[in-house]
Amino acid sequence: MGPSGSGKTTLISILAGLQRPSGGRVELCGHDLTRMSESDVALVRRRHLGFVFQTYNLFPALTALENVAHVLRMKALPRARRRARRGRLGRVGLGERVGHRPGELSGGQKQRVAIARALAGKPSLVIGDEVTAALDSGSGVAVMKVLRAHVATDAEFCS
Ligand SMILES: Nc1ncnc2c1ncn2[C@@H]1O[C@H](COP(=O)(O)OP(=O)(O)OP(=O)(O)O)[C@@H](O)[C@H]1O
Ligand SMILES: [Mg+2]
Repeated sequence: MGPSGSGKTTLISILAGLQRPSGGRVELCGHDLTRMSESDVALVRRRHLGFVFQTYNLFPALTALENVAHVLRMKALPRARRRARRGRLGRVGLGERVGHRPGELSGGQKQRVAIARALAGKPSLVIGDEVTAALDSGSGVAVMKVLRAHVATDAEFCS
């Protein structure tokens, strides 16, 4: 926690290997992200990390479902996961909006797609940047429940 401009986003993007620190080191699942090439960092991130951005960062040309599906395609997971993906979107309260593009979704709905996308690959670590800031308090509580349930049941740490 900290005031606007204090460096929250900077710190967590360093933890996620999206930026390199000017000093110190970041280790994730035995990999030192600060000593690896950018492409190797990308591989570690794809395998172990889910990131929910403050500003969503969804692919505008893809529907909600496609945004989530894209992550699984990058991981080369089997097609049978499609149903699970839909379930995941449903769990964040987006069941009937899966066919819509980000431009047709509210801020809160976009953030829920981003969360479904971050959780879809069962990451070891989920990093969120003010994930509930754009949500009303009811949706915020629901989203935190989804995140906590993931940590309790779905996470396969560093496997
Ligand atoms: N790419 C960048 N290059 C240079 N300075 C940057 C860059 N991104 C952010 N900054 C600066 O770094 C400082 C910290 O920014 P950061 O985005 O980490 O803050 P924050 O705590 O996440 O703020 P907010 O609550 O508004 O999201 C700010 O002074 C910002 O202007
Ligand atoms: Mg920020």
